[in-house]
Amino acid sequence: MKVIVAESYAAQCAQAADLIEELVREKPDCRLGLATGSSPLGIYRELIRRCKEEGLDFSRICSVNLDEYVGLGPDHDQSYRYFMDSNLFDHINIKPENTYVAKGTGDVEENLREFRELIAAGETELQLLGLGADGHIAFNEPGEVLWDQAHQEKLDESTIDANSRFFASRDLVPRSAVTMGIGEIMRAKKLLLIISGANKEEASKRLLMSGEISTSCPVTLIKLHRDATVFISRELAEAIGYTG
Ligand code: GLP
Repeated sequence: MKVIVAESYAAQCAQAADLIEELVREKPDCRLGLATGSSPLGIYRELIRRCKEEGLDFSRICSVNLDEYVGLGPDHDQSYRYFMDSNLFDHINIKPENTYVAKGTGDVEENLREFRELIAAGETELQLLGLGADGHIAFNEPGEVLWDQAHQEKLDESTIDANSRFFASRDLVPRSAVTMGIGEIMRAKKLLLIISGANKEEASKRLLMSGEISTSCPVTLIKLHRDATVFISRELAEAIGYTG
C-alpha cells in the first residue's frame, strides 16, 4: 500500500486526479470504478476542469459506481445516480450510456443480478474509494462476514447518522443499500482511496498504523491489494501519528 500525505484537501484531490488522468490518457477506453460521498467531490471538480480546459477526454471511458441506496430512484436528489450526474457526468464528455449506477428501486434481486453481471463483464482499471467512519468501503459494513459480490446491505446506525447530514431528517435516510462486494472491489487493477472528513481517525489508524486485516474494519482488506494508493491530509497524518 502506498500512502501519500498531502498538504491540503485540494492537494489530495489534485494528486488523485493526476493518477486518474494518467490512466485516462494511457487507456482512453478503460472502465473506471467511481465513488460518491463528500471525499471525492474535489477530485471530480478537478477532472471537470481538466476536461473543459485541458481536453481530458472521457468520450470512450465507461464507469461503474460502488453503490446505491435502496428505495431512491434516479431523480431523488440524494440518490447516488443523481449525485454522479450532477457532480461529474453532466459536466464531462462521458457518454451517459457508458455510466452505470446500480438501480435503487424495483426488484432488488433483479437489480443485483444486473449489477453483478455488469461488473463481471469487464475489468475495472482503477477503483476510487472513500472511507466510512466505521471503516466501511462502498457500503460493506463491518461484521463477522464480508461478501465477495454485489449484495444488499443493511446500513449501520452510525452510517445512517453520518449520512443524515444530506437528508432533511434522519428518518429519511434509507436503511439499506445495494453495494459492490469486497471481492469485486479488490479485483480492480488499482485502488485509490481518498480519506477526508470528520471521524475518520479510528478507521485510518486501523488501516495505517497496524498490520490488522479484519472484517470488523472492512477498509483494512485493501492491505491485501497489490496496487492500492491512499491519499491522506497532513492534518489526519498528525492526528493519528502517521509519519510514513
Ligand atoms: C457513504 C458511501 C461511501 C463513502 C462514505 C463516506 O457511506 N457509501 O462510499 O466512502 O459514505 O463518505 P464521505 O466521503 O462523505 O465521508
